[in-house]
Amino acid sequence: MKRKPGDVKVFVSSVLPSIGIDMLRKENFNVTTWNDNNPIPQDKLIENAKLCNALFCTLTAKIDAGFLNECKHLEIISQFGVGYDNINIPEATKLGIPVGNTPGVLTDATADIAFGLMIAASRKMFFMHKKIEKGEWKHFAPTSHLGMELKNKTLGIFGLGRIGIEMAKRCKGAYNMNVIYYNRKQNIEAEKLLGAKYVPFHELLAQSDVLSVHSVLSEETKGIFNKAAFEKMKPTSVFINTSRGGVHNEEDLLQALNEGKIWGAGLDVTDPEPMHKDNPLLNMENVAVLPHIGSATIEARNGMSRLAAENIIEFYKNGLIPNFVNPEVMKK
Ligand code: GLV
Repeated sequence: MKRKPGDVKVFVSSVLPSIGIDMLRKENFNVTTWNDNNPIPQDKLIENAKLCNALFCTLTAKIDAGFLNECKHLEIISQFGVGYDNINIPEATKLGIPVGNTPGVLTDATADIAFGLMIAASRKMFFMHKKIEKGEWKHFAPTSHLGMELKNKTLGIFGLGRIGIEMAKRCKGAYNMNVIYYNRKQNIEAEKLLGAKYVPFHELLAQSDVLSVHSVLSEETKGIFNKAAFEKMKPTSVFINTSRGGVHNEEDLLQALNEGKIWGAGLDVTDPEPMHKDNPLLNMENVAVLPHIGSATIEARNGMSRLAAENIIEFYKNGLIPNFVNPEVMKK
């Protein structure tokens, strides 16, 4: 890319840790930011992106075919995040727009949330916390609200990539859990590292005591955890999702919990987001829900801001995007 940073207008579509914005400004990029903590409305996103060469955005920006065709001139889209299901990648590729993301820096933070939710759900922590708030902690109760232990149980990972591996390491280290997984393709390296066993999807459902979702949201995975899937799971199992809410069907999940098809659930992602405050899942004894905070640590969010800025800086300096989602666009 021949354009000099001083001639590149970058639009940042959310309030973000300043590290990446400072990096861009230091390199002399012409940066405009959206300064409202609420997600940018679509018309404002288009209005601003239309005036810019580069877009620095988050998962709340809807980069669909409509947006992309209005903003065909964009030279790069850099997503603050590892998931990019808010961006229509085939359309961006068709229009020749390169897209970057920020993998790696949020791996530990997200695995910690999956691990925490597993314990919180299996020990009914969120539900029991609410009892104190409601003034319902009266005495030590030897037989009420008993949870489940995790030692030597089977952990099933759906999508054994970076985050799934870290979740599995935590579960093995803390509870000597036996790890099975299902992926689009076998991950031999991870098998060696974790002693993990690849199983078909129906076996993952049937064998897991804890089933933790770490896949991307795609046409293939959308709603894959539905009524039929929950019915194949153990009645004692706990379902964890820290990837994208769209991977599970939330009504089916509620029904499966109500009917005892599965035992509990821990969610950091819901469908839709935000979850409505009256959602019955929030009052269930064996359920723990968080508001999509997987990557919400100072370290991870600073890392995401830095990597997203690096994608833009490197692209204009060397024509390379260090974390490239659609490198095939360069062949165009
Ligand atoms: C957060 O959910 C991300 O995809 O980075």
